[in-house]
Order: sequence, then C-alpha cells, then structure tokens
Amino acid sequence: MKFFVDSADVAAIAELNALGMVDGVTTNPSLILKSGRNILEVTREICELVAGPVSAEVVAAKADDMIEEGRKLAEIAPNITVKVPLTWDGLKACKVLTDEGRMVNVTLCFSVNQALLAAKAGATFISPFIGRLDDINLDGLELIADIRQVYDNYDFQTEVLAASIRTPNHVAQCARIGADVITAPPAVIKGLANHVLTDKGLEMFDADWAKTGQTILSL
Ligand code: G3P
Repeated sequence: MKFFVDSADVAAIAELNALGMVDGVTTNPSLILKSGRNILEVTREICELVAGPVSAEVVAAKADDMIEEGRKLAEIAPNITVKVPLTWDGLKACKVLTDEGRMVNVTLCFSVNQALLAAKAGATFISPFIGRLDDINLDGLELIADIRQVYDNYDFQTEVLAASIRTPNHVAQCARIGADVITAPPAVIKGLANHVLTDKGLEMFDADWAKTGQTILSL
C-alpha cells in the first residue's frame, strides 16, 4: 500500500520523505489556504521534493475551465496529478485530461456509483472520503471495501486512494481491505508508530538499564 501525505506543509512532507514514508502527496484548496502559500510556488517545491504523484486541485466548476486549469497545473512538473471533483463536469475534464496522457485524481467520492463513473472516465485515482462519511454516521471503510470489490470484479485499473483518513484504525483497515493508496495528514502517519505497550516496555528497559550502571559507548 502506498502512503501519500495529505498536506501542503513542505517541512512536514520533507520530514516524512527523509524516512522513505512518502510515495506521493495530495493537496486541496483547504490545505493550500492552511499553508498560506501561493499554489504554484508551494506545489512546485513539493514536486521537487517528492518523486511520486503530487495532486493539485482545480477550482473551476465548468469542464472547459477545469481542463484549462488542469493543463496549467500540470505544467508545474511531470509528477503533477490533476485533481478534479466528482461532478459531471469533473468527469468530462477527467476524460479529456487522461486522454492527453495526464494523471487525474477524482476527488470527493462518496458512493460506489461515483467510483464506477470515475473509472469509466479513465481516472488514475479515485478518492473516497472515509472520515466525512463517518462524520454523518455512515461507514467510510465500507465504501472502500465496496469500491475495491467492484473495481476487482471488472478489472478497472483506477487506483483506490482512501482519503479523509483521521485515525490509525482507518489506515490499518484500508491495508486489510486492499486500498492501493492511503492519503493522511502528517500527524496521522507519525501516529502510526505509537503504542502504549511500546512506551511501557521502553520505560521498563530504561529503568533496568540504569541499574546495570553501564553505558554502551564507553565499553
Ligand atoms: O484528501 C482529502 C482530505 O484532505 C479531506 O480530509 O479530514 O478534511 O475530511 P478531511
């Protein structure tokens, strides 16, 4: 399973990238706002840092305008993935941009039928949002499992990119289901390392080690 970082924070992406944790990056208008940076500048910096796909989202509502924005964003770097919303216009833009040989990530997916349409339109990635379904008492993980099954039934090549991931459990379950990619904020990815028994075990080892009176580097 590939790990994408859902962020436009260059320092946070760089920290994870140095550990080999970053297979790609996803951004959206809210994350660009949070970064306080110019979209073209910050996206270029991210693309220089990360070799894998970097999603940059269009903001137009009409297909023709989305296509124009997508082409402009794609000029930033060869690893740009144009992100379009799952609307009828977004699907039209997806078809045109993928026919031009560009990677396209169709975002804001909340149903299997939407995912089917994105695959038919040639999407490179489909982004179902887990957390936002959980927020309204639906089951985001069930959607990931359903899309996985349907794509496998018909051998669709579109990659399932599980988004709106909020917890380590979301990540573990996506791996069990067989999502191709998860995208998560840096804090969630770093949080995967945490376990209360690891902390407790380390405390015990530290206490016992202190009692030996030894220091490894002076032996
Ligand atoms: O990639 C989509 C993601 O940024 C949405 O996450 O937590 O705002 O639902 P969230």
